[in-house]
Amino acid sequence: AQQTDSVKYIKAGRFIDTEKGRILTNQIIVVDHDTIKAVGDNISIPTGAKVIDLSNATVLPGLIDCHTHLSQQPGDNYYDDIFRKSAVDYAVIAPIYTKRTLLAGFTTCRDVGAAAFIDIALRNAINHGDIPGPRMLCATLFIGSTGSHGDLNGFSPYLDWVGPKQMSGVANGVDEVRKQVRYNIKYGAEVIKFGASAGVLSEEESVGAPQFTQEEMNAIVDEAHLWGLKACAHAHGTIAIKMAVKAGVASIEHGSFLDDEAIALMKQHGTYLVADIYNDDYILSDYAKHGTPEKIINKERLVGKTQRLSFQKAVKAGVKIAFGTDAGVYPHGWNGKQFKYMVKYGLTPMQAIQSATYNAADLLGWQAKVGSIAKGKYADLIAVKTDPLTDITSLENVSFVMKGGEVYKDELHP
Ligand code: ARG
Repeated sequence: AQQTDSVKYIKAGRFIDTEKGRILTNQIIVVDHDTIKAVGDNISIPTGAKVIDLSNATVLPGLIDCHTHLSQQPGDNYYDDIFRKSAVDYAVIAPIYTKRTLLAGFTTCRDVGAAAFIDIALRNAINHGDIPGPRMLCATLFIGSTGSHGDLNGFSPYLDWVGPKQMSGVANGVDEVRKQVRYNIKYGAEVIKFGASAGVLSEEESVGAPQFTQEEMNAIVDEAHLWGLKACAHAHGTIAIKMAVKAGVASIEHGSFLDDEAIALMKQHGTYLVADIYNDDYILSDYAKHGTPEKIINKERLVGKTQRLSFQKAVKAGVKIAFGTDAGVYPHGWNGKQFKYMVKYGLTPMQAIQSATYNAADLLGWQAKVGSIAKGKYADLIAVKTDPLTDITSLENVSFVMKGGEVYKDELHP
């Protein structure tokens, strides 16, 4: 084979095959530029070739988080975040978050909601090689009805944030929601995110009531499909979850209050559950310190535990699970902390890893490029020192990160 500087041979001591759900040993991964050229145990390494020796580590594909908000993270004061910062403030800081996320082993994110198209700017800067970060599939503006989780609630009517169109995706009625989908796509959306139900971190009274009619949800999903995109729905409440599943979303985000019928519908429609089941710990321990209103903390108390039990029921029933954390609600780079909960609430370690690799790639529609270490895919891979199949928390400390053939972190060869 021809030798060029761009070719690297990676020796993987343990290798997680996320496609087949098995562990292999002593694999050689051949990388050329940003792509995997070959994988196998009988590949000979030419003398003088560039070798990355990960024989003492477990190698797996770069992780995928299907629910991030890379453009934001709570500051130290709730009201400052809302009233004293603009989208520009958030945009300036965001490259720190994309870097932390990448170094934590997450080489791909589905970013499901950002103000002012910050997500698109980040994606473009990352793809252009200007800043380090994960591959991003972006939703742009969160589409929500007036007074919904996607609106700004609880303040004086003089504080109107719907005005600047580029800031919010507030839309009502079939015509407006279709227009909003088109608007988002015009400026770069590759997935459509809407609020099917109320939420926790917003000041409307409910935490789970539906916030669009069935017709509006159908219109959003249909319009997304017309443009060749998938839709996903923020949905905590049972009724809203069922409405969104019937409308045809690819995934339910949060999914806190699942009953048997909702679970059956999700199975029937092949809907993924993307449940951010680490989040509760951080919100309850830290949000009050930052001046978050008691009303919001109380809403968290309503969903936290139930969401984990819903997740457990869904896993047992065989609902498709994709890993998504809502990072941005808590500090970026902590994404891996959720694995422990996914295992505690019913997934095997292998299934948890697949939810953040092969299955996540399926949800994104990016399985041809990411989600497993296989010929023709991007050379996105990570390594950990201990075996995640016996200790899933090893994914909280990723030692080696390669994205597109480039090494961003290597603690194994200090
Ligand atoms: N963004 C979500 C919301 O505000 C966060 C929910 C966090 N809580 C949880 N238990 N997952 O509704």
